[in-house]
Amino acid sequence: MNLSQKVRAFVGAAEASYAARVTDPEGMRSTREIFARLGQGALIPDENVQPERFAVCDWLGKVTVPAGDLDDVLRAFRALETHLRWYRRDCAASRALPGFADAHANAMVVGRGGLVPHDRVTLGLSLIAPGTRYPDHDHPPEETYLSLSDGEFFHGESDWFTPGVGGTFHNTPGMLHAMRSGKGPLCAIWALQS
Ligand SMILES: [Fe+2]
Repeated sequence: MNLSQKVRAFVGAAEASYAARVTDPEGMRSTREIFARLGQGALIPDENVQPERFAVCDWLGKVTVPAGDLDDVLRAFRALETHLRWYRRDCAASRALPGFADAHANAMVVGRGGLVPHDRVTLGLSLIAPGTRYPDHDHPPEETYLSLSDGEFFHGESDWFTPGVGGTFHNTPGMLHAMRSGKGPLCAIWALQS
């Protein structure tokens, strides 16, 4: 499989998983629109992306999901991993807790600055080490998370909640949200559109 085909395989697996699992109307509408957009054009990897990874990325190997659609997503992501430029949040700007920088990494498969550049859609993954709180953040694009592990989230005025493996939720534009891991790593896919 060449890199384009690997990207297409990941996008296709993510689409199937979101389609099977999202139940709230706004998340369903948003993810349908996102994958329709991605289905319209060629997904051409940017050859100038220099792969980069961090030690925390080793936690990806500890993420386990049941056989089926989630495993398809995880396998397709792992097949892409060596091509991705993992990145960290700007920890100072987001007032992260000490140790956060080394305890998390994000990877963008599609999106501005991602492996496949796209102006409107962002599709990627966050990985955080056990016992780590991701800083509160918000952004203009709406977003639907697909959780691939245990771990807690909040959004808007909600309390912390656990979507569980394969759980999903939708963030409206500008909605404050965050996540935190427990005894294991937290791994979640996000699909955004503006
Ligand atoms: Fe977000």
